[in-house]
Amino acid sequence: MMLLSVDRINVAYGAARVLSEVSLTLDKGERVFVVGRNGAGKTTLLKTIAGFLTPTEGDILFDGEKVNAWHPEQMANCGVRYVYQDKRVFTRLTVRENIELAAFASKEKLDVAIDRVVQIYPKITQFLDTKAGGLSGGQKQLLLLGRALIGEPKVLLIDEPTEGLAAGIIEEVFKVLEMMKGKVSMIIVEQNLAVVCALADRVYAMKEGRILAQLTDPAEIQDHAILEQYL
Ligand SMILES: Nc1ncnc2c1ncn2[C@@H]1O[C@H](COP(=O)(O)OP(=O)(O)O)[C@@H](O)[C@H]1O
Ligand SMILES: [Mg+2]
Repeated sequence: MMLLSVDRINVAYGAARVLSEVSLTLDKGERVFVVGRNGAGKTTLLKTIAGFLTPTEGDILFDGEKVNAWHPEQMANCGVRYVYQDKRVFTRLTVRENIELAAFASKEKLDVAIDRVVQIYPKITQFLDTKAGGLSGGQKQLLLLGRALIGEPKVLLIDEPTEGLAAGIIEEVFKVLEMMKGKVSMIIVEQNLAVVCALADRVYAMKEGRILAQLTDPAEIQDHAILEQYL
């Protein structure tokens, strides 16, 4: 049985259909990527899985249970978390307080929670008392990835983790995504093909709200030219 399976879902904003018959699976321990141009529906897909939107048709199964109409809190409580595209931290709170809120929500001790973030981003210890709003985009992303691991989630839905970041820090985010394998199963939306080629177990390509193709062969996944066709 798959950990997560999305079976031919349709999703609309009001009358505007945005996803059509989208199917996707995630096995335990997998790192699956979704690629596609802006507006293809990638964020909508992750938000639907995370419970922010409800499909009008089709099913979402998590751990064998139908979760179509579950709310984001319910999904998060059972271990499915969405990491926002816009690097959303609590800007007026310190880094420590940002971690504290996540620890509280996951009922985890603060020192254990801080340690999870430190494990993947050791330099965070220098910024614990800094207001999170003062961090660079890359530092925010690393904080968010560390924070997402608090409470040992089962699935992370990560939306464009390297978007808009400087080259040097993309390398750090890349290493963290590499290190997170084995800790959690992931669906990652990403437009940086170097990251996709190096880290993907499987790739789904989306266009205009549909899945165009699924790549499972490592030789195909590592071939930039094949992936580029879908961007
Ligand atoms: N809140 C919304 N209300 C109406 N339409 C939206 C909303 N969010 C996104 N859309 C539309 O849905 C389509 C898919 O958007 P999105 O899922 O954000 O794509 P992607 O993440 O692939 O760039 C786009 O045409 C976008 O304009
Ligand atoms: Mg998006």
